[in-house]
Amino acid sequence: MEKKQLDWANIGFTYIPTDYRYVSNYKDGAWDKGALSTEANIVLSECAGVLQYAQTAFEGLKAYTTKDGRIVTFRPDLNAERINNSAKRLEMPPLPEGQFLNAVDQVVSSNGAYVPPFGSGATLYLRPYMFGSSPVIGVKPAEEYQFRVFATPVGPYFKGGVRPLTLRICDEDRAAPNGTGHVKAGLNYAMSLHAIVEAHTLGFDENMYLDAATKSMVEETGGANFIFITKDKKVVTPKSNTILPSITRRSLMEVAEKYLGLTVEEREVPVSELGEFAECGLCGTAAVISPVGKIVDHGKEILLPSGMEGMGEVTKQLYDTLTGIQMGEIEAPKGWIHEI
Ligand code: PLP
Ligand code: COI
Repeated sequence: MEKKQLDWANIGFTYIPTDYRYVSNYKDGAWDKGALSTEANIVLSECAGVLQYAQTAFEGLKAYTTKDGRIVTFRPDLNAERINNSAKRLEMPPLPEGQFLNAVDQVVSSNGAYVPPFGSGATLYLRPYMFGSSPVIGVKPAEEYQFRVFATPVGPYFKGGVRPLTLRICDEDRAAPNGTGHVKAGLNYAMSLHAIVEAHTLGFDENMYLDAATKSMVEETGGANFIFITKDKKVVTPKSNTILPSITRRSLMEVAEKYLGLTVEEREVPVSELGEFAECGLCGTAAVISPVGKIVDHGKEILLPSGMEGMGEVTKQLYDTLTGIQMGEIEAPKGWIHEI
């Protein structure tokens, strides 16, 4: 398929509309069979559940062109499972896994011209999402829903590509105990907007959120989980039931153990331990692995020994192995790569 003439190496993480998106509607207790559409705009009731009470959840995954020219997605079954966990928490109807996977495949194959070439530094980001579409004025779930998937080519999430980031520990909370931090609800992102705008104004790239109950344990950022590397090269990642269970992080834990022979610890990470790590990174579909160079805790600077120039040694090994698997250069564990 002839590719679109896009400046692949220089696209950022922005929305570029593509030709086709998938739409399915839920009505009278069932999802319809769904279809591709060329219409990027949605007409909705002014009183739709999503508009009034934020009844919406989303997913994020990417399609890659492999070295040998195949187009693949990475562990889409886990996104299918996670959107249904989100749906359940927000009283939305689950979507059959097969329909989710088929929708993603259709959107990728119909937008083949937008899948960035191998080695370009860009990928095709897929955004599946579900929302309450029928009117509700009393606080209750909508009766009708829409599920959509669109695609947009993206470059690096953080401006400037792979460069160590500066984070601040912020005072706002992202997730309450027993709240929605463990699901991908749109509302989690709405409430992070003020803190991210403030962080950017103050010159920080991202916020490090702490646990709301004790403000002593590291949780995650607004859009990625943390990994830390200890001085003796162990991989440590925060354990918390108020963070999003990142598919990238779960994959990295396996990559670290099975491909790199590293010890992995998923455990609570106290803020007081931050000064002892050798490396720190943000991991997620959009973030991939973005190295962190500095964390500022209310004016106190914590400098990671890996510095502000590039990725630390272990972070780089994890990055190279994960992206090598995703781009078909390194053999993947069974079931991780889905060919379109
Ligand atoms: N944490 C948050 C809050 C996110 O929005 C994301 C992005 O999806 C992640 C973590 C990373 O998850 P994943 O690796 O599944 O993309
Ligand atoms: C993703 O990584 O897919 C996300 O949804 C994070 C978002 C901040 C872009």
